[in-house]
Amino acid sequence: MRVIASANQKGGCGKTTTAINLSSSLSSKGERVLLIDFDPQAHATMGLNIMHSDLEKSIYHVITPKDYKFLRIEDILVPIKDNFDLAPSSLILSAVEQELSGLEGRENRLFRAIQALKKTYDYVVIDCPPSIGHLCFNALRACQEVIIPIDMSLFSLRGVAKLLEFIILLKDKTGHDVKSRALITMYDRRTRYSRVVLEKVKTEFGDNVFETVIRYNIRLRETADHGLPVGDYDKTAIGHKDYENLAEEVIRLEADRMYPDLNTLSMTEDILQKTEEYIDMSVKSPELEQPTSEMEEFSTYSPQSNYSEMVEAIATGSTNSFFNDEDR
Ligand SMILES: Nc1ncnc2c1ncn2[C@@H]1O[C@H](COP(=O)(O)OP(=O)(O)OP(=O)(O)O)[C@@H](O)[C@H]1O
Ligand SMILES: [Mg+2]
Repeated sequence: MRVIASANQKGGCGKTTTAINLSSSLSSKGERVLLIDFDPQAHATMGLNIMHSDLEKSIYHVITPKDYKFLRIEDILVPIKDNFDLAPSSLILSAVEQELSGLEGRENRLFRAIQALKKTYDYVVIDCPPSIGHLCFNALRACQEVIIPIDMSLFSLRGVAKLLEFIILLKDKTGHDVKSRALITMYDRRTRYSRVVLEKVKTEFGDNVFETVIRYNIRLRETADHGLPVGDYDKTAIGHKDYENLAEEVIRLEADRMYPDLNTLSMTEDILQKTEEYIDMSVKSPELEQPTSEMEEFSTYSPQSNYSEMVEAIATGSTNSFFNDEDR
């Protein structure tokens, strides 16, 4: 069973769209898929037409340390279609950030819930929230692979570099090895800006980027409103083709062969430096077109992310507040 998280603390970069449509494409190829909506915004749940306000049971009830009924993932499953189940989320999941504070084993709760699954899946896909907190820690701890969607914005590139840095530090401190790869989303070849960023990302990030590029496709936005994966709404949509290609690429490449070894911190520093160079480049090149306002309007980047403090704590070794000895 491969456990894959869709994560990037940059908001609105395509995490949920990727989680839903990758899951759907994998399932249509005969793979048994569980999608875990691990974001209190419950966008994946709503994007699959499940009304989270109607739910009595959600992933919150599996993860919370509060003594409910000790629900397991199987107890909350919503079947979406053949080979495709959803573990839905609801707003109450946000309470977990507080509830897990200071609790022993807090970063292992999702990991354990997935380990306890009796039902067999080929893939578990986790849709992460746009912040790094206990939820994201749990997702990274539970997965073996991370897909980091990056829209064609330099903020998103910064997000990749930071998340990679975080993943390496996580490995150093806990021994948990997560393989990661960036996925370019919302690519619009009509803008020179997109083309330049894509070229740079492909050249410099090399094997750290999926070959498949997800193009900007309005159908992907419409489908969320219709509560359907894009392929169940319009099989001719380029968004559907792109996610089919992504599913094939994911299947084709085994996790172990799929990602370069990110053992060294120097590589992260390199990526961080290159990202800064791109940002410089874009600032100094006003002739580069900026993304269209339509593309920018859904960017919900939150500067309140507590990521920096966490990384700093890990880097300086004061991680006791985040990790427990038993998990190192
Ligand atoms: N390739 C694409 N083309 C056009 N629109 C897209 C594409 N991918 C995602 N979108 C739209 O962009 C918006 C943000 O996408 P999505 O919700 O997947 O991002 P996210 O990273 O999950 O956001 P959040 O950080 O809030 O969880 C949504 O309206 C979605 O429909
Ligand atoms: Mg989302």
